[in-house]
Amino acid sequence: IISQSAKELQLDAYVIGGFVRDFILQRGSAKDIDIVAIGSGIELAKQVAKNLPNNPKVQVFKTYGTAMLRFEDIEIEFVGARKESYHKDSRNPIVENGTLEDDQNRRDFTINALALDLSEEKFGDLLDPFNGIQDLKNAIIRTPLNPDITYSDDPLRMMRAIRFATQLHFEIEEASLKAISKNNHRIEIITKERIVVELNKILESNKPSIGFLLLEKTGLLDYILPELTALKGIDEVEGQRHKDNFYHTLEVVDNISKKTDNLWLRWAALLHDIGKAPTKKFHKKIGWTFHGHEFKGSKMVYQLFKRLKMPLNDKMKFVQKLVLMSSRPIAIADDIATDSAVRRLVFDAGDHIEDLMTLCEADITTKNPVRFKKYHNNFKNVRKKIV
Ligand code: CTP
Repeated sequence: IISQSAKELQLDAYVIGGFVRDFILQRGSAKDIDIVAIGSGIELAKQVAKNLPNNPKVQVFKTYGTAMLRFEDIEIEFVGARKESYHKDSRNPIVENGTLEDDQNRRDFTINALALDLSEEKFGDLLDPFNGIQDLKNAIIRTPLNPDITYSDDPLRMMRAIRFATQLHFEIEEASLKAISKNNHRIEIITKERIVVELNKILESNKPSIGFLLLEKTGLLDYILPELTALKGIDEVEGQRHKDNFYHTLEVVDNISKKTDNLWLRWAALLHDIGKAPTKKFHKKIGWTFHGHEFKGSKMVYQLFKRLKMPLNDKMKFVQKLVLMSSRPIAIADDIATDSAVRRLVFDAGDHIEDLMTLCEADITTKNPVRFKKYHNNFKNVRKKIV
């Protein structure tokens, strides 16, 4: 129908971006389709709507020169091919009409610049000026232009590169990693909401540690979640060391991602130890302690959600509660639970007792083999009592 509509308007149209990438990777059925028209995207959208059986409503975004319509559960977005140039202090580009090549040039990654021809004569032909197919095969994230320009033009792309690397298990090419490290401070011009969208996608992937390690390596994490970088490092006093709570946290996040798709439980895993950096102390008699880190951590959850402009709703409270309680079942297991301690825990955790146990199990799995065995056995007993 799109092909026929383009023909009626005598313009060329292409499918481009994520749909083509995911189609080639055979990665589920895409719910977003991006169409680029050599001419007016808005006119093409209207023509397509006219030709569709249910004549869906076209939503027009005049300022962006784009239009969107929904067909069944698919969102189709139309844009006229454009040439973009950026100003240093803004994510909003100066836009001019352009050719398909101009439009492919402005895209973030070679694997997102692939286009399929929708004309009758060349239907399905692939237009791949930057060898994106090769990058898909080699599992590489690479920018069409000089990476310094791509990332500096639109710093959100630094997060996107890391997000795609995490979702697809791709490598980011060295020149890109360098450019991201160099431009990391420019993430500050991006709205918090967009950053959170990318963070959520990283957390929703099957191995979130890939993303957080890259965020750390490129220095982006310091700008976005400094509470996590503060957990890095191991101190040693009088021969006593504590574990590196940053890498420990990432292990817990990966463990929990194997057990649940619940995004908020994954957030709780990510933040479960953030109170440890500001409460860390060394005592001559007992060694390293993080006394009160649970309370501190739950307060920090609120501050962090607020700073990232995430809703301060029940989800936030859930994360807070889990951070506050996360070490309690482990502590109870350590002492081998008394019935009253278990009863108290079930009462305090309320409806979230199962989620809390899942988090603690993910935490326990990271312990060294000797402690793991002991904790795990005791923990299983606590669990039995709860059930
Ligand atoms: N794009 C870009 N720079 C951005 C955002 C998007 O160049 N900062 C381009 C890419 O070509 C991308 C397309 O716009 O493929 C569509 O963007 P979007 O829908 O956000 O991402 P997808 O690639 O479709 O991936 P996903 O649906 O997984 O987010």
